Amino acid sequence: MKRGVLVAGSANLDFVVRAPHVPAPGETVLGNGFATFPGGKGANQAVACVRAGGAPTRMLLALGDDVHAAPIEASLRGAGVGLDIVRMRGTATGVAFVCLAGDGENAITVAPGANARLLPEHLPPLADVGHLLLQLETPLPTVEAWAREARRAGVQVALNAAPAQALPRSLLGDCQLLIVNEGELAAISGRQGIGAGLDALDAPAVVVTLGARGCCARVGGEYLLQPGFAVNAVDTTGAGDTFCGTLVASLSLGLPYPAALRHACAASALACTRLGAQTGVPRQDEVRRLLAARPGDATEALAAYVGIA
Ligand code: RIB
Repeated sequence: MKRGVLVAGSANLDFVVRAPHVPAPGETVLGNGFATFPGGKGANQAVACVRAGGAPTRMLLALGDDVHAAPIEASLRGAGVGLDIVRMRGTATGVAFVCLAGDGENAITVAPGANARLLPEHLPPLADVGHLLLQLETPLPTVEAWAREARRAGVQVALNAAPAQALPRSLLGDCQLLIVNEGELAAISGRQGIGAGLDALDAPAVVVTLGARGCCARVGGEYLLQPGFAVNAVDTTGAGDTFCGTLVASLSLGLPYPAALRHACAASALACTRLGAQTGVPRQDEVRRLLAARPGDATEALAAYVGIA
């Protein structure tokens, strides 16, 4: 069985300033700490795939020829991600400016740099790939071409449609799994309400993440609810990426959707308890411990929030 995961997407160096709150337009806020962390939605998801255990994971990424490339490459190699690096000469590596507020929430601005120069022809051979995981921090025509080629090759395509933008129907048609947050669901589906948004999107499986509340999925015609795991959040950066990587790795290992969603929710909750996107991704034994400590969850409050009986 082909079960390797290929993540094709963005890699950034995150410049993180801790501040009492995220500044409003026109406001200046005095921060109280600065650090850099390896990030980028694609790279974070690749690390999460590996830490979820078992699924051999590769990543296609682009790096510039500046000093920001090395820490990203070192983090991915250190995590055990196999790398297909496109090195862009005379180009900056992607960077992200993250304002991290006291409650763990954040606001992020990305300068894509080399990520914006990834092209359809950069996709490596798909012979050992069972799942391809994509995001939208690389050019949309490139993402569309990768999804099309993967689908033709019989690869399961998962798209984390973040940051949100209008998606061509043909791209959705090439995806077996779409993962979005609430804002992205509303923006992409054009519908208000989680149930209506899920029903409006054509992919066979659609998952909407709901932050600390957990997640809701429509898989075939069935709705699945997975409540979140309560933690003390210090940094939510990369929590959604941890969810995506863990979910796809779990599916690639043959877990059914309910179990895969549970693993993904637990991993993303733990990711919020530490600073940094990739540094925050938990190990599989930590996820197992959390799952063992919380064998069952009440879904009533989540069902009421989602509006699904
Ligand atoms: O999802 C979090 C990520 O978004 C950060 O690591 C940042 O690099 C941006 O890509």
